[in-house]
Amino acid sequence: MRTLWTGLGAALLALALGCEDEPTLDDEGGSTGSPKPEAPRECIAPEGMGSPASVEATVDLINALPKPTSLPCFLESLDRPLQIAATDSDRSAQPSPGEENPRLFITRDTMILSVLPEGPGSDRLEFAVDVGDGLSVKGELAFPVEAEIDVSEPYAQILRNPGTSCGACHDLEQHWETVNEVPVFASEALQYPAEDDVSPAYVDALAQTCDADATPQRCAMLTSVFAHGDVTPQRLPELIRICRLLE
Ligand code: HEC
Repeated sequence: MRTLWTGLGAALLALALGCEDEPTLDDEGGSTGSPKPEAPRECIAPEGMGSPASVEATVDLINALPKPTSLPCFLESLDRPLQIAATDSDRSAQPSPGEENPRLFITRDTMILSVLPEGPGSDRLEFAVDVGDGLSVKGELAFPVEAEIDVSEPYAQILRNPGTSCGACHDLEQHWETVNEVPVFASEALQYPAEDDVSPAYVDALAQTCDADATPQRCAMLTSVFAHGDVTPQRLPELIRICRLLE
């Protein structure tokens, strides 16, 4: 689905986005009803590797998992609790078609990972690492991962000329550093407006009632996030810019 992100379509979509500084209104506390039974894991992170907080540590974990590595396998292997935000925003490179199939953000320290259970963009893991001043370094990995990859691979997969495929919507794109000869770009961090928030407890319920015969991929993704221990609601950082569609 690479074409969705490039060319005229993405450029037009970018023009239609209005981003503003605005405080996040909701303050969700608590967790999604813990403790709960944990499904057994098939994908197990080696000791000390299950809490990656950087692109490099994430690649190390993926390299350590059985090959080929599916996206659900990677998500399942992460240490719990997972800090999760969910949105039905359809304005990103992982557009959510509705709250039944929300985009999920997993936050660990300064890194935000994002996945979509089903549809265009759902075969990818997206990365943003906060580098200050409202900017984040971007990366992306397509799954399944068939063999060991270099730490620069998430940066290499988004390169366009100039910059990255992310720059169509994430403004202020700039060269940040170079990793193994691959240029790394930072750009504006974005978040969704409060009205597009979907509660993780609701998504947890979706995971528990998912019909694996009807939507196997969606169920595998939802289960990999929600069935292996506690999940804590964690909205995206308050200070990053909010995007709305301009009518
Ligand atoms: C079509 C426009 C569009 C494109 C292209 C796009 N994004 Fe985004 N991105 C958004 C919007 C809008 C948000 C706010 C959250 C939402 O609405 O889902 C966002 C938010 C994010 C976030 C949350 C935190 C942050 O630092 O911004 C991550 C992670 C992210 N995008 C990764 C990426 C990556 C990686 C790429 C390129 C491979 C990319 N995005 C390309 C529109 C886009």
